[in-house]
Amino acid sequence: MERREENSKTKFLGLSRRAEQMPYSPIRKLAPLADDAKKRGVEVFHLNIGQPDIKTPKEFFDAIISYQEDVLRYGPSGGLLDLRLAVVKYYRELGIDIDLDNVWITTGGSEAIIFAMMAVCDAGDEIIVFEPFYTNYNGFAAMANVKLVPVTTNLSEEEMFIIYKLCKEHGLFLLSDEVYREFVYDGKSQVSALSLPEIEEQVILMDSISKRFSACGARVGCLVSRNKKIMDALLRFGQARLCPPTLEQIGAVAAYRHIEQYIKPIIKEYEERRNFLFERLREIPGVYGHKPEGAFYTVLRLPVSDADHFCQWLLTDFEYNKKTVMLAPANGFYSSPDKGKDEVRIAYVLNRDDLAQALEVLKKGLDAYRVK
Ligand SMILES: Cc1ncc(COP(=O)(O)O)c(C=O)c1O
Repeated sequence: MERREENSKTKFLGLSRRAEQMPYSPIRKLAPLADDAKKRGVEVFHLNIGQPDIKTPKEFFDAIISYQEDVLRYGPSGGLLDLRLAVVKYYRELGIDIDLDNVWITTGGSEAIIFAMMAVCDAGDEIIVFEPFYTNYNGFAAMANVKLVPVTTNLSEEEMFIIYKLCKEHGLFLLSDEVYREFVYDGKSQVSALSLPEIEEQVILMDSISKRFSACGARVGCLVSRNKKIMDALLRFGQARLCPPTLEQIGAVAAYRHIEQYIKPIIKEYEERRNFLFERLREIPGVYGHKPEGAFYTVLRLPVSDADHFCQWLLTDFEYNKKTVMLAPANGFYSSPDKGKDEVRIAYVLNRDDLAQALEVLKKGLDAYRVK
């Protein structure tokens, strides 16, 4: 009865607690305000979302255009064999020895994360997570009724070793989101959780082609595990949702075939964008951020007390030369309620020219907001 909802005409059951607790994504929640700004003729630079402007490999589209079947049927639940083979080859080339049985293709990395959480956690269980984190972990945890327990770390090598030891000693599962594997800068490289010795059955790796091939709309990811029981749970989860998207998997096979030529210049491009961003940020008083060693995001502390309000204001009340900028308020990237209030998360996914303009708009916006 607690859940009973009333309105003036009828009485009906209220929504689940899960639905009530599901947060809006801070990456997207201001989108209607951005749409309104665009309707007013204001150009909006999107620093809020990791949507790269880098071209998807041509081979991806060519493969889809060459599709010959006259019916687009359901595919296998675990993904097309050709794609699973391509993923196995990709991992083996990274020095990670896996077989077909260890790979399950998912509808984006997002589904891989939900499947992983649901495979190892019951309702009420806890996952220790490093914050700030990918904001949608909050949403996935709400869907899976899992509690996120935050710890702050910058994931240095020493800290990675501590995590590894904790997993080994306490028999914990290690869920490793490696969707940005290639995007590591300053000559460094990333160690995959799958290459850690002795805990191989405890590791679940979540991966995606969204960023690797700038193919966010393809919705193709995968889950990799050497644990047979987990793979069997995936089989059952996956059968229930039938199959991941067929045409995009065909595109992904072609993209993996050309990964070598495709990815190197892109890593360089992101590294240059990061360096450019941090050079320009020095010119904006009161803005502080940690220069990331990988991926294409950073959390910036701003000279404002309520970053959420500032982000909205940029879209509703501010423009500079008919331009404004969309940022993601950072408190949704933490699960500690008091963190991130004066911070924004930005993605340096735009080319240098757009990035320069976006940062100029941000600087002017901060000036105007201060005197408001
Ligand atoms: C760290 C991280 N994991 C997972 C995802 C989700 O990826 P996908 O587009 O494959 O669902 C993202 C998307 O931005 C991400 O940043």
